[in-house]
Amino acid sequence: MTGLQHVKLGTYYVVNLPEHDDFAFWRERARALVQCDVPPDRIAWVGPGGSGDLFAHGERRTPVPDDPARIVRASKRFVKLARNAILHSDTDRFALLYRLLWRQQSNPRVLEDRTDNDVRRLEELDRTVRRDSHKMHAFVRFRLVEDDAGEAEGEADGDGEGNGEGGGHYVAWFEPDHHIVRANAGFFKRRFANMNWSILTPKGCLHWDGETMRESGPARREDAPGGDPVEALWRKYYASIFNPARLKVGAMLKEMPRRYWKNMPEAELIPELIAGAQKRESEMVAAGELEFEERPDTLAAIDKAIHGCRKCPIGELENEAVMGEGPDDGSDFSGLMIVGEQPGDQEDMAGKPFVGPAGQLLDAQLERARIDRGAAYVTNTVKHFKYVMRGKRRLHQNPNAKEIDTCRWWVEAERAIVKPKLVLALGASAARGMLGKTVSISKARGTPIPLDPVDGSGASELWITAHPSYLLRLDGPARDEQERLFQADLAAVRQRLEELAG
Ligand code: URA
Repeated sequence: MTGLQHVKLGTYYVVNLPEHDDFAFWRERARALVQCDVPPDRIAWVGPGGSGDLFAHGERRTPVPDDPARIVRASKRFVKLARNAILHSDTDRFALLYRLLWRQQSNPRVLEDRTDNDVRRLEELDRTVRRDSHKMHAFVRFRLVEDDAGEAEGEADGDGEGNGEGGGHYVAWFEPDHHIVRANAGFFKRRFANMNWSILTPKGCLHWDGETMRESGPARREDAPGGDPVEALWRKYYASIFNPARLKVGAMLKEMPRRYWKNMPEAELIPELIAGAQKRESEMVAAGELEFEERPDTLAAIDKAIHGCRKCPIGELENEAVMGEGPDDGSDFSGLMIVGEQPGDQEDMAGKPFVGPAGQLLDAQLERARIDRGAAYVTNTVKHFKYVMRGKRRLHQNPNAKEIDTCRWWVEAERAIVKPKLVLALGASAARGMLGKTVSISKARGTPIPLDPVDGSGASELWITAHPSYLLRLDGPARDEQERLFQADLAAVRQRLEELAG
């Protein structure tokens, strides 16, 4: 018996999804449908609130496969992108994901085709959702709605347990474009662990009491509080950290679109601060305040500081610094730090290293070499994207030696905190960033170079290989040869990491 026997010819299936962001539900249904050979054009995917009326005669029961163990192919990359893309508010996303899953059964490499319309759309959804999450992280502003007296009232109601140490209840209003609220609960829980807070949004709400996370349905703007004394404090704080030397009005408007301003108390100050910025900047230069100060001792402090870094002209362009990333919980760290050159166009937009074409090639090569990117700390030697405009496009420019040497300060600060056992530099700029001098990749690859410890980083060794963008520029036998060398370098790195761990 094959699954096909369950699927009557011409049957049209309607899958009602109970939640907008339930990847596990979609995956379970999609798997069964693939196992029963139901082609994409025989399925209507209907999200919550969507009308299934058009498909009134459709079959609502998902067919049951004869062989539930039958293998359904889905690349790791697909699963990673799909988990995020499903949060997009495009109603066609479920069908798109199914189409790509279906196509992978006959062509497991479909995700590698960068020109394919479905693949491009999937990447676009993923990018947009990441950007929306980034906005949520950056623009949520809590307002105090209940002071300590209020907390005491809560106790009188038998609700004394679990109130965060922060005292009072903080409420924020945010309007996401996509269904990202639940997916970002962990971020806010970690960041505001000791506070008692609610984030209200028209797409559902989160409530944290210091111990448990609760969800509730959509809220309206009127449910959230207006201003309060915390706002005055926040404005004062913002004015004090506002760095006039960092000011790029165009970039600021791009990053902090005006529509978010109404929920951000500090936004009221912006026109005034912009007006005073030039004068203040000259004063800072004169006073030598732009010199590097002490090396930051947390990754969060580095992240904050690189956003203000204008030690070289790259930071003056319309871009945002991109911080390195690694396992949230240091215990999962494999000891490997991967260093690239600088963020590209897509990394600049996403605020994450190696997410564009070079990142995708890197991911595929690491996977092939059985190196877990998720257990490595991935960063760049230069923190801002250097480019020139060509029409509407931003074209990558290599950083020069002076820019790399200036930016070494930050990658060294990261190394001091991350304490990698092995650093893998991708390409000549990264190698210079780690060594402070230029080396030839073809001569340096394959042989580890000891790195001087930096502020308690401990011993580590540097391995150098080519940059994935270099591979991307080649084709034919030259590309095959460089991929072979790249794989050989990665295999040596994996083996060395195992030795160092053992
Ligand atoms: N190239 C790099 O060197 N780093 C990135 O993050 C992306 C592309």
